[in-house]
Amino acid sequence: MNQAQPLWSPQLIQRYDLTGPRYTSYPTAVEFQALGQGETLLDIAAASSDPTKPLSLYVHIPFCAHVCYYCACNKVITRNRAKAAPYLERLYQEIAYYAKRFGQGRVVEQLHWGGGTPTFLSHEEIRQLMAVIKQHFQLREDDQGDYGIEIDPREASVETLQLLREIGFNRISLGIQDIDPQVQEAVNRVQPIELVKELLDEARHLGFRSINFDLIYGLPKQSLSGFTNTLETILTLSPDRLSVFNYAHLPDRFRPQRHIQAADLPDPATKLAILEHCITRLNQAGYQYIGMDHFAKPEDELAIAQRQGKLHRNFQGYTTHGNCELLAFGASAIAQIGDTYLQNQHDVGAWMREVAEQGYALKRGLALSQDDKIRRAAINQLICHFALDYASFNRCWGVDFEQYFSRELAALQSRAEDGLLLLQQGGIEILPQGRLLIRNICMEFDRYRQQGAAGTFSRII
Ligand SMILES: C[S@@+](CC[C@H](N)C(=O)[O-])C[C@H]1O[C@@H](n2cnc3c(N)ncnc32)[C@H](O)[C@@H]1O
Ligand code: SF4
Repeated sequence: MNQAQPLWSPQLIQRYDLTGPRYTSYPTAVEFQALGQGETLLDIAAASSDPTKPLSLYVHIPFCAHVCYYCACNKVITRNRAKAAPYLERLYQEIAYYAKRFGQGRVVEQLHWGGGTPTFLSHEEIRQLMAVIKQHFQLREDDQGDYGIEIDPREASVETLQLLREIGFNRISLGIQDIDPQVQEAVNRVQPIELVKELLDEARHLGFRSINFDLIYGLPKQSLSGFTNTLETILTLSPDRLSVFNYAHLPDRFRPQRHIQAADLPDPATKLAILEHCITRLNQAGYQYIGMDHFAKPEDELAIAQRQGKLHRNFQGYTTHGNCELLAFGASAIAQIGDTYLQNQHDVGAWMREVAEQGYALKRGLALSQDDKIRRAAINQLICHFALDYASFNRCWGVDFEQYFSRELAALQSRAEDGLLLLQQGGIEILPQGRLLIRNICMEFDRYRQQGAAGTFSRII
């Protein structure tokens, strides 16, 4: 594995700028099947679950007090804080159901609250939700678990951070997006940088580790010079991790995006220039490119795990907890248990009704075949480490990689000739100019994509 930063190649980006999955799972969520009988998939999950593995828990809180026009998350916009209470009641029921079935005697190595906006909840509700989780699951007491929460700076105070730290969180991710007032107004998310600074200072004082910032490029009113300013200010704040997401304008799919005027969007050349600048500047500032849209300081756990060949990818993005089984609570949340993926009802009402009736509320899912698992391993290895060693893969999976993937390797030949990767005797190495196009390379190993399965994915770049 090598840590060379990605190399910017406009010609290759032009040639391979195709749509592609983000591979937070393989097979991707579009392959999940509608469930007639959730019980059957839960039985397969239970039969294939490995109770010696630790757990990762994801909790989805869908509420937001204000709408951000770009948003593609599963959320419910409401000013009515009372909506949280009945949702939490069902969440407690779902947590109890899964804890009984899958939680016995297993340590929770990773916990993540996402949304929507988890801090939409009152301090009392936050405290109670954590108490219920601790009542049903075994959380680590030594502050060595990886317990994180997504924070909208407008929905959190210094006191909120103190509470979160007190009840056991040790990581936070702050939604920043852009600090340019013009852009903030265009997306209906006015958020003064002073707010962010105040929270950041307190978070550091309280000992939160791995503070992450989310940024988005491609938003209305953004320009290269504007985003350059944003990045310079962000660098003075020195977050441990940075996610720089690409905004895809899909107003037919995401209603709030209809408020965005297409004429205000930066053109593709500007977007590319912004991305190129981000990559160069973050590299210069000492951040390690983790992959896709993620950067981390070299001393951050993600960067260390990547250098040690121990990085994984799951529904929470890049993670150091690849050995965990993932239980997921709340509307639209996705679990990964044993050989299955299980996705909850997307609609909050449907999710609440079904949990009330039966303790769980699945909408769709998938039981993985052996071929799915082998392909997932190959994709994960390439997307996390930009290299794959045939001998270790073969030892792990009992296959001959070159034989098993002979069609795929032949198809990758042209990309090798274009300089995206090296197809060597012992394995595959993704070259620096191929790293930004890793999704395109991974798609070759995706049996469903090769069969021409339908599905819309965000632009690679
Ligand atoms: C659930 S939100 C984070 C927590 C909180 N709701 C907030 O906004 O601060 C997750 C992240 O998804 C990203 N995001 C949402 N919609 C997006 C879109 N259409 N394109 C790219 N990134 C998007 C944003 O960066 C956002 O911070
Ligand atoms: S970006 Fe965050 S705060 Fe804004 S609407 Fe989406 S989930 Fe809610």
